[in-house]
Amino acid sequence: MLIVGDVMLDEHILGDVRRLSPEAPVPIVEIQSRRYHPGGAANVAANINCLHGSALLVGIVGADAAGSRLTEELASRGVSTHDLIPAMDRRTTTKSRVMAGGQHIVRFDEECQIDLSAEQEELLATRAARSVEAADACIISDYAKGVATPRVCHAVISAACAKGIPVVVDPKGADYSKYMDATVITPNLKEARAAAGTYDNRFHNRDDSGILIEDIAATIMKQCPTSLLITRGAQGMTLFERGAPPVTIRARTRQVYDVTGAGDTVVATLALGLAAGLPMAQAARLGNLAAGIVVGELGASTVSIEALQHAIAEDSWSAREAATTF
Ligand SMILES: Nc1ncnc2c1ncn2[C@@H]1O[C@H](COP(=O)(O)OP(=O)(O)OP(=O)(O)O)[C@@H](O)[C@H]1O
Ligand SMILES: [Mg+2]
Repeated sequence: MLIVGDVMLDEHILGDVRRLSPEAPVPIVEIQSRRYHPGGAANVAANINCLHGSALLVGIVGADAAGSRLTEELASRGVSTHDLIPAMDRRTTTKSRVMAGGQHIVRFDEECQIDLSAEQEELLATRAARSVEAADACIISDYAKGVATPRVCHAVISAACAKGIPVVVDPKGADYSKYMDATVITPNLKEARAAAGTYDNRFHNRDDSGILIEDIAATIMKQCPTSLLITRGAQGMTLFERGAPPVTIRARTRQVYDVTGAGDTVVATLALGLAAGLPMAQAARLGNLAAGIVVGELGASTVSIEALQHAIAEDSWSAREAATTF
């Protein structure tokens, strides 16, 4: 599975608060430990390997300590990092969360806001297109940090189309024309609405009444004729395929701990399902089951194959068929 996109490092700084600072009305956190996890496109790759897929990751890291840490974290999860390109002029995107006494105290981010150079973009596009040769499906994981340029998206999608393999896109931004000819785009509802707003002003209206998810999907699909899987948080997801009625899949989790990264799990599972030849609606159901597991576990951002098989067995939908998918 090829994943092209914005990789990040997630850091959790765990500590205790015993007193307030004398300098300002803020708590002093005494740090006990730090934990690191791949984030963004790197989390998608970690999800692929956790489900016994084989992730090839193409992206950009800074030539810094966070970049080395991210590469180590990925390697320890069996993800191939040969095509992570180190860039001297960029910082590795890092999101650090400070946690104390079960409370999230603050998050601080480091990221690079500058565009890729023409050489970096060319190198990425070439490596991405070449990696399609070894892949049975592709994912573009766009977090709007600079990697998924129209040139890079086009390189992946045209190579995948020529080979006849699916491309799943987790989009950002309001213009989906760069994802043209992908197999399926998976925005959340807020992202889908923003994209529809670029084609039709009515979706910018602050009054929500009368705006239907079907209208949002139809507006996007008129401009960019790809299947759309709109994820809807606790409401589950709705799949819009051309020429077929929409399919709504309800979310399954009873207790929710942490919804961060649920979208990454959806795209990873959906793409694995498509690579294995499942129809889109069934692959989406798998994605919904897998995301339901990650949001229901404290601190989890990947799903094991055993946990997914267990959820399939509990689900009413065609358990035997799905169990033989992976
Ligand atoms: N509160 C919840 N309860 C149950 N399932 C959930 C919940 N939130 C998310 N999910 C599951 O995760 C999927 C993706 O969630 P969501 O629509 O929030 O994506 P997202 O906003 O892209 O997430 P991310 O924070 O990873 O970017 C949903 O379609 C659903 O299957
Ligand atoms: Mg998302």
